[in-house]
Amino acid sequence: MGAFVLGTGSYLPRRVLTNAELEGMVETSDEWITSRTGIKTRHIAGAGEETSLLAVKAAQKALEMAGLGAEELDLILVATITSEMTMPSCACLVQKELGAVHAFAYDLNAACSGFLYGLDMADAYLRRNPAMKIMVIGAETLSSRTNWQDRNTCIIFGDGAGACIVGGTDRRHGVLASKMFADGRLHNLLFMDSARGMNPDLSNAGNQGSYIKMAGRDVFKHAVRAMSGAVTDVMSTLGLEVDAVRLFIPHQANIRILHSLLERLHIPPEKVYVNVSKYGNTSAASVPIALDEANRAGMIAKDDLVLLCAFGGGFTWGAMVVRW
Ligand code: UT7
Repeated sequence: MGAFVLGTGSYLPRRVLTNAELEGMVETSDEWITSRTGIKTRHIAGAGEETSLLAVKAAQKALEMAGLGAEELDLILVATITSEMTMPSCACLVQKELGAVHAFAYDLNAACSGFLYGLDMADAYLRRNPAMKIMVIGAETLSSRTNWQDRNTCIIFGDGAGACIVGGTDRRHGVLASKMFADGRLHNLLFMDSARGMNPDLSNAGNQGSYIKMAGRDVFKHAVRAMSGAVTDVMSTLGLEVDAVRLFIPHQANIRILHSLLERLHIPPEKVYVNVSKYGNTSAASVPIALDEANRAGMIAKDDLVLLCAFGGGFTWGAMVVRW
């Protein structure tokens, strides 16, 4: 009865920022970025490419693949930490732009794990009402919340959006199992202050601006440990070994994180979808962009098991197994 994927879509902003261009912005080199992260380019949003508009473009492609009209959607969930507005939600802006007049809509914030959390939530709605059609989107313009003088962060993030429409299905297909986690005690290793408030008693003196701050090396270690634990957990709830998985789609943060993860989990590289070199880390958009690219490339066939996992600020993390 879980969530079954009816269509996927993704969209990247037009402008591509290369490592060579970053060399002119901060003290770094193409060699350092490539060897430490695997990233060569990332896409950066320009005028008319706000988060909600990237989300709309990805959503339209997913609707087209699913053969659905926007008015057939019952719910739009947008996972984002970089919407252009705090209120209304990005999801409401997307609902308006798509003309999804019958859908209720809201955002969720689980940083880079947001899309997975959203899919998990959609799965829960569908178990209650399998007739629903739910659009889950991960969309970010991290470029708007990046300190472009900080070489620890500005080299890894990128902008983009990915979308996935799910509907109810039989017991054999769709989301078979998922495990979501959070640990707020570690929030200060990766965080972003909100905009400065209007109440002086509540304003945070340490707030230097609303951009991402990250203790990269610590985050790296936690990411590998947490994602491998979540994958092991979710596979054991199904009584399956990772060999049963046809395609592994992890959060695209850093190629070295992916390599460590594969080594721990004994997953061969040919079973993993990787696009981090092209897009960098697009936070909540990373898993749905990769899922859409793999889907459109014909890498997933009916009945295949697809394993998704993510890790992000909060900390939040999780893993999910979907039968296509
Ligand atoms: O999406 C989930 C959240 N994010 C992540 O998963 C990201 C996790 N972390 C990472 O991807 C990596 O930690 C980074 C790519 C951010 C950094 O790579 P690292 O191998 O962990 O480097 P480091 O922070 O340990 O720094 C090593 C050295 C330092 O110099 P010293 O102190 O050894 O002299 C840094 O100052 O590299 C220096 N460095 C740089 N050098 C050239 C840091 N950033 C750069 C840079 N270019 N861009």
